[in-house]
Amino acid sequence: MDVTTLILGAGAAGLMCAGMAGPGTLVVDHARAPGEKIRISGGGRCNFTNLEVEPARFLSGNPHFAKSALARYTQWDFLDLVSQAGIAWHEKTLGQLFCDGKATQIVALLLRRMEAAGATLWLSTSLRDLAHRDGWFVARLEREGNVTEVRARHLVVATGGKSIPKMGATGLAYDLAQQFGHALVPPRPGLVPLTFPEGRFAGLAGLALPVRASCGATSFDEALLFTHRGLSGPAVLQISSYWQEGEDLRIDLTPGTDLAGALRAARSETGRRGLGTALQQHLPARLVAHLAEDLDLGGTLGDLSDRRIAALASDLGGWTLRPQGTEGWRTAEVTLGGVDTAGLDSRSMASRHVRGLHFIGEAVDVTGWLGGYNFQWAWSSGAAAARAI
Ligand code: FDA
Repeated sequence: MDVTTLILGAGAAGLMCAGMAGPGTLVVDHARAPGEKIRISGGGRCNFTNLEVEPARFLSGNPHFAKSALARYTQWDFLDLVSQAGIAWHEKTLGQLFCDGKATQIVALLLRRMEAAGATLWLSTSLRDLAHRDGWFVARLEREGNVTEVRARHLVVATGGKSIPKMGATGLAYDLAQQFGHALVPPRPGLVPLTFPEGRFAGLAGLALPVRASCGATSFDEALLFTHRGLSGPAVLQISSYWQEGEDLRIDLTPGTDLAGALRAARSETGRRGLGTALQQHLPARLVAHLAEDLDLGGTLGDLSDRRIAALASDLGGWTLRPQGTEGWRTAEVTLGGVDTAGLDSRSMASRHVRGLHFIGEAVDVTGWLGGYNFQWAWSSGAAAARAI
């Protein structure tokens, strides 16, 4: 069977590309349903883009690579699509746009566009092998026990990254990239909870508070959540993408507060108040109790010198922690690294090595912040490839 374009992967990027690539497109996926990550995303409401999308909010070996695709298919373009489809949405926080209803509306929208564009979808289909001969990509596809040979002029690899293998994530994109002579930036889990030795935060699991989490020169002001295994919450997920094993995290537990000034003022008002009690105005009591073990929080405010207050404020503003590791692919929301952008054209996502070959979405070494950025990359890179086909 001959087709114009074969798209591997019916996730966010593959479906977007199929809706714009035109007739003669075949999309295949080994899963039983398309767009499974869209369905479960954003707690079932899909954080489908972000109003504040800009290239600096994406990590990549080449920070300029994402610019072209993001500029040529923007968050406003996807928002138009959503609004025209009558899907109600709202901004939750920090520019993050969610459906008012279910995330499956986004999957349905992409499927409708794909059908309208004349593309065909084969689910429960796996790739047996793939060759490139005489300008054709020749794929042997296995579906319900039958093997079909499909020849395509264009091949779009949209099989995503390695996060959440239980949901069908595989390293197929990386194997194909290597088969066709592309380099890889080593894939690693991103937007992932960080782990600590057992018992490190005993008694704190479930506690959340606003913090500034920093690693090197990067910081995020969002919520931190203590878990049984370590730290999570948006601030930690965000910083996890910038963290490398062996590095420390710095957590400002009282961001935007002049804690030293507040403690000095409290001391002159009520010097007999216990330091622990005074700190509970700024931090949850459970956390104060936990920190008391390390930071000597006994005594009263009246006992504290200005120097001691300054030291305490600096300790709480720069709580330094060394994570043991991450929760890994099992819970990572995205994959950092992937197909090296040096081998791709940033306008079309086309391979510089093999004519007609494209890589899009999470498979590529472009990873967004938490908050709708990764779907926007899937939409923008999918559109870039489709326009070039
Ligand atoms: P995606 O993973 O969507 O699709 C890849 C497709 O390829 C899948 O359908 C898979 O079955 C198929 N495939 C894989 N291997 C194959 C093989 N060997 N053979 C055939 N098919 C194969 N982002 C965001 O912006 N906002 C959000 O709210 C969320 N929420 C969220 C929640 C959770 C729990 C996760 C895990 C992730 C998110 N994300 C997110 C990230 C977002 O889901 C992700 O970045 C995009 O889905 C990536 O789109 P892709 O199309 O590249 O891969």
